[in-house]
Amino acid sequence: MKILVTGGLGYIGSHTVVALQQSGFEVSIVDNLSNSTIDVLEGIAKITGITPQFKFLDLRDKSEVHHYFKSHKEIDGVIHFAASKAVGESVENPLLYYENNVNSLVNLLQECKKQGIHNFIFSSSCTVYGEPDGLPITEDAPIKKATSPYGNTKQISEEILFDTSKVSHLKAIALRYFNPIGAHASVEIGELPLGVPQNLVPFITQTAYGIREELSVFGDNYPTQDGSCIRDYIHVVDLADAHVVAINRLLAKKNTTAFEVFNIGTGAGSSVFEVIQTFNQVTDQNLKYKVVDRRPGDVIAVYADTTKANTVLGWKAKFSLADALASAWKWELKIRKE
Ligand code: NAD
Ligand code: UD1
Repeated sequence: MKILVTGGLGYIGSHTVVALQQSGFEVSIVDNLSNSTIDVLEGIAKITGITPQFKFLDLRDKSEVHHYFKSHKEIDGVIHFAASKAVGESVENPLLYYENNVNSLVNLLQECKKQGIHNFIFSSSCTVYGEPDGLPITEDAPIKKATSPYGNTKQISEEILFDTSKVSHLKAIALRYFNPIGAHASVEIGELPLGVPQNLVPFITQTAYGIREELSVFGDNYPTQDGSCIRDYIHVVDLADAHVVAINRLLAKKNTTAFEVFNIGTGAGSSVFEVIQTFNQVTDQNLKYKVVDRRPGDVIAVYADTTKANTVLGWKAKFSLADALASAWKWELKIRKE
């Protein structure tokens, strides 16, 4: 079986390519390298012994996408990661986000329809829930007005998939990721944030390495047990495995509706202070941090109800927060040595 992975040289995509190859799939990657480098291909090959097929392709280019699909007729399914993902940047440049995240999806789906490719996995996000009314959050919780253009592109994309699946042979699964962290155990692939990291874990590892002076904890006066925000941090290797399970579900025609949605998290919420404490424990360090004002737009607490993913999809996270943080630290050490 051959799977096309868009954005397959990116953080989650590269880990998923490894998981797919290790499950026996043949993988083709398309990526425009806007947030990744070609070296990742080598990292993948070092882990699996197989260099996946790669084509430089910008999915916004409708005619190039058409040419690609015309010359690759043997694709059994698509896993679509390629997108822009920086929330702040999306507020400053919404058109870039609507163009990249929405147009690319439409271009892909049009070609899937033409070529008779029915199986499609989409990278969605827990950001579609906004500030939840109840926790843990289930897939049928209401979708609230998005707080950023990035979040809106994920909501619109899910609607595009739902509408298309109603009137065509498309079978799609949207995986709503919670907070992916960590790196592959081999440390051949991991997260490569550009510039100053906006996300918590890369900021922690860079601070521990001495690249950043100290971590700013965005608020300690939230209505949570220790005053800091709560998130569901999931090891990227667990997340990658969820894609293999999801594509197998579609290939085996086990889906119950044409469009399905699953939360992909651990089911456990961790506060920012708990993350710092766990990081200190697993790395035997004492991370420097200071408490600063709340970050505008931050949700207070969100973590997944994973019942549907566990029982219907048949996937469950295996790694702990400590495992994920240890792997993130190992990765930071590895990339600084190079
Ligand atoms: P990433 O930036 O590391 O990977 C995305 C890849 O897509 C990059 O290699 C980039 O070069 C490529 N790309 C972007 N636009 C493209 C285009 N027009 N044509 C071809 N390639 C293009 O991001 P990631 O963290 O691996 O995220 C993957 C997906 O998961 C994204 O859709 C993202 O929105 C979603 N997601 C990520 C997170 C997270 O915290 N990382 C959380 C929820 C959802
Ligand atoms: C962010 C995105 C979300 C995306 C998710 C996964 C925003 C508003 N949301 O979510 O759309 O799906 O990443 O990529 O950006 N924190 C600090 N100090 C820091 C960095 C973070 O205290 O330097 C705190 C934050 O306040 C938050 C937690 O750490 O409570 C996690 O932050 P982050 O890694 O940025 O992820 P999210 O805010 O959950």
